[in-house]
Amino acid sequence: MKWNVVHNEDEMAKAAAQRIADVIRRETLRKGKVVLGLATGSTPIKVYEELVRMHKEKKVSFENVVTFNLDEYVVDKDQHPGFYNKDISYHGFMDKHLFNHVNIKPENIHVLHGMAEDKDAECRRFEQLIKQEGGIDLQLVGIGENGHLGFCEPNSPLNGRTSEVKLTQQTIDVNRQKFDFAAETALSMGLGTINEAKEILLIANGAKKAPIIGDLASGIAVANSANHAELTLDDPETARTLAQHRKNNPAMLLKYHSNATAIVDEAAAGQMLDRYKQPQPVAR
Ligand code: F6R
Repeated sequence: MKWNVVHNEDEMAKAAAQRIADVIRRETLRKGKVVLGLATGSTPIKVYEELVRMHKEKKVSFENVVTFNLDEYVVDKDQHPGFYNKDISYHGFMDKHLFNHVNIKPENIHVLHGMAEDKDAECRRFEQLIKQEGGIDLQLVGIGENGHLGFCEPNSPLNGRTSEVKLTQQTIDVNRQKFDFAAETALSMGLGTINEAKEILLIANGAKKAPIIGDLASGIAVANSANHAELTLDDPETARTLAQHRKNNPAMLLKYHSNATAIVDEAAAGQMLDRYKQPQPVAR
């Protein structure tokens, strides 16, 4: 796993957008299309802003881009009419921040349908489509304060596929306070689905993410200074730490992926660097 520590959120967004644009250009040249896995939440907003800017400046085209989003809430469409068009739904969010501003073809956009009558069939259809498209070339992920990726909460199976998952009480309460809905479940890619992406790009910014980013990096030697540091598994103690964290921090799967990079700002990297200087005791 590679780490790229940058100064702030703007730099994080620029670096991530640059990487995504590079993969779009490379794969479009190579095979005529590119398959992206996308994320929602506050972290990618500036990444999408940057991609939209690059698109307007004709630096990147979405004409041959196919997308699959990580997740979507499940709400009752009769109780919340129009939910999937509002920007609190992940469908609406993606339209507002990216899809409405670039030349992506509507038929190439895949966001799970939270209102589908048969949720299992919807999840199977989604997995099938990913396979049909030849797999995901680059998956963008944010990270929850508890390490969740998509809606794969701690202790999710590492080989899990797209399915309906229960939201934690904390997530349900946050949504109830912020919005007018209280989805109790969501449809989400599984960790196994995410892990199959050819490249994974994790983005994180802000001090709130420092503890989980610290956890993710703990026990790992930083070979270079902060920038582009290559983190490597160095001793059996480290291996034990990883095994321990792997059980409950879903983001640990990035450690085992062959092409995963985290772009984090200094605030989010705060405890990662501290822990490197003062390694934490290993839980046995
Ligand atoms: C969103 C998603 C979530 C978020 C995570 C971080 O599609 O899958 O895992 O990436 O909750 O959210 P923010 O970016 O709001 O801190």
